[in-house]
Amino acid sequence: MGMDSGLRPRWESWGKQVEEALDGFLPGEAVAPISLHKAMRYSVFAGGKRLRPILCLAAAEAAGGDAAVAIPAACAVECVHTYSLIHDDLPCMDDDDLRRGKPTCHKVFGEAVAVLAGDALLALAFEILSCAGEGAAGASVRELAKAAGSRWLVGGQVADMEAEGKEADLGLVEFIHGGKTAAMIAASLRMGAIAVGAGQDFVDLVGDFGTKLGLAFQIQDDLLDITQSSEVLGKSAGKDEAAQKATYPRAVGVERAREEARRLTAGAIGALRPLEERGEVLRAIANYLLEREF
Ligand code: IPE
Ligand code: IPE
Ligand code: MG
Ligand code: MG
Ligand code: MG
Repeated sequence: MGMDSGLRPRWESWGKQVEEALDGFLPGEAVAPISLHKAMRYSVFAGGKRLRPILCLAAAEAAGGDAAVAIPAACAVECVHTYSLIHDDLPCMDDDDLRRGKPTCHKVFGEAVAVLAGDALLALAFEILSCAGEGAAGASVRELAKAAGSRWLVGGQVADMEAEGKEADLGLVEFIHGGKTAAMIAASLRMGAIAVGAGQDFVDLVGDFGTKLGLAFQIQDDLLDITQSSEVLGKSAGKDEAAQKATYPRAVGVERAREEARRLTAGAIGALRPLEERGEVLRAIANYLLEREF
């Protein structure tokens, strides 16, 4: 698959560090209430790509810092992301049975525990972040709280649901994608930079990269929902059309959506130009995401 040969070992090694750190941050399965901690662990360790933590660590390294310093921030963004997936799959939202190749959290643990596992992961994210190094914790908490809040992640999810069954207007789709997906991706990068004490210009630069990348990522997610099988995706394909979601392909057609994902990816890569060779890993990630199959 389209992962650059130089990127793969970085992704795998960072991914492993994140898995281990998450394992340490999440309460064990034997801790009461057992059902809750089992549900949290079930969803966190179900086999996600770990894109947001990887972006966080890559931004820390691109800033000239030690990526290991950004591990708490990387784990915090993955906890928020996983919570958002658990809630996204609930019957009152997208009503999905399959996630990360396994039955969704509410299918295994029931709706009430799934809601609460999501709540607990959101709280845990901020507990983890509060332990982050020196002055970074405050700024980082603000980034995550904002991206996860009513104007971005949650706001995008509300707009996504309210747009169901209606005409997919391009401006509205951009608002939804910017909120539900791009904001958390941009925040992951910004938090990685903040963790290693990068200056404001650098934080804004990787944030700009992340906003463009995040939009391209959600367009690709919309396209994969149409073109890919549930087996490969690890989540049920064809759901957007069935629910009449406001997606990019529905607004402008599959071909133009593909073009837009390419254009945004090129724009994201363009934003990295001032970094020169330090932007190499971020550039490779952007190229990989355009080629990804799930
Ligand atoms: C899925 O995100 C939700 C979207 C914002 C499209 P990912 O495709 O990163 O899901 P995981 O983390 O790999 O399961
Ligand atoms: C969800 O978008 C984005 C989130 C913030 C969870 P989708 O509803 O398209 O995500 P999938 O396709 O279920 O992963
Ligand atoms: Mg959704
Ligand atoms: Mg969904
Ligand atoms: Mg989707």
